[in-house]
Amino acid sequence: MKILFYDAKPYDRESFDAHLPDYPSITLDYIEADLTPRTARLAQGYDAICAFVNADLGRDMLRLLYEAGVKTILLRCAGFNQLDAYAADEYDMTVLRVPGYSPEAVAEHAMALALAINRRLHKAYIKVRENNFSLVGLTGMTFRGKVAGIVGTGKIGQAMCRICRGFGMRVLAYDKYPSDEMRGEGVEYVPLEQLLAQSDLVSLHCPLTDETYHMIRTETIHQMKPGCILINTSRGALVDSQDLIEGIRDHRFFGVGLDVYEEENDNVFENREDDILKSSITARLLSFPNVIITSHQGFLTREALDAIARTTLDNAVSVEQHAPIEANLVGV
Ligand code: NAI
Repeated sequence: MKILFYDAKPYDRESFDAHLPDYPSITLDYIEADLTPRTARLAQGYDAICAFVNADLGRDMLRLLYEAGVKTILLRCAGFNQLDAYAADEYDMTVLRVPGYSPEAVAEHAMALALAINRRLHKAYIKVRENNFSLVGLTGMTFRGKVAGIVGTGKIGQAMCRICRGFGMRVLAYDKYPSDEMRGEGVEYVPLEQLLAQSDLVSLHCPLTDETYHMIRTETIHQMKPGCILINTSRGALVDSQDLIEGIRDHRFFGVGLDVYEEENDNVFENREDDILKSSITARLLSFPNVIITSHQGFLTREALDAIARTTLDNAVSVEQHAPIEANLVGV
């Protein structure tokens, strides 16, 4: 199988190259360019393309890839909200993803954001570098004994529940399909409204769907416990950014940590330090002293990259053998 690998970063090459010798039937060509209508044409002659979470895989793009002869889309990520699954089905394309490559990696990053914003590490780091040893403005809260509210208790949410339990927090959770295993570990399932009202730390871990789009908006922000911390490592559009900005201005949050945000797509994994950004939402969020943003790096550990490479290559081989791995298939 010949695969064109879009948006290849040095860490991608490293992890895939380490495994390629075990997959002699696979040829990988890396390109740095992201998948765009122009670069889609480069896929001519390839059986499959490999794309990451920020690639636009809407109907128009899939048509271009179909016209180029591509039959398989290998997503080297878990989320697939960027894909028009109906169009992929119409074009008879097989789409596979990597579910749950390292839930702990993302959950640990969620807790890292929560701790950093809570103890104002982003400010402390800069202050001490400038020989400012004052502690004014750095007071946080002790997590032990506080309430964590975990929205979505799938693989990542469960890992986050366990981390919060380890910190000695009471853990409330909301999920459409509560987990008995989590209940057994002391997690209490409650309605979303109650979770928001009681939690000192709210962390979002559900997928982006029509139902979860803007689940955090003015109405739900007003239900949240005043002075709570909000963490989003899931998908940007779970949170209405304009409403979040209003909420921060209203002093409703002690802090906000975002690994994902609505207008991230143009930014993700790019160095744009010399660009004048088109929209002001990111800049506005960054202007607040109690907001930390990272650039969709929750997944970025050596272990996760290794698992992504191996599963993606296994996915490719399974398609080659006409037996796509059922659990990794993305269908309508
Ligand atoms: P998962 O599929 O294991 O779990 C998702 C959970 O959300 C399930 O328990 C499901 O029942 C629940 N859910 C679905 N709809 C819901 C609703 N309307 N209300 C409440 N709960 C709902 O997914 P996993 O692996 O835990 O990933 C969660 C999300 O994390 C992904 O969808 C993805 O967007 C994001 N992610 C972020 C990464 C990063 O680098 N920041 C890396 C990987 C995933």
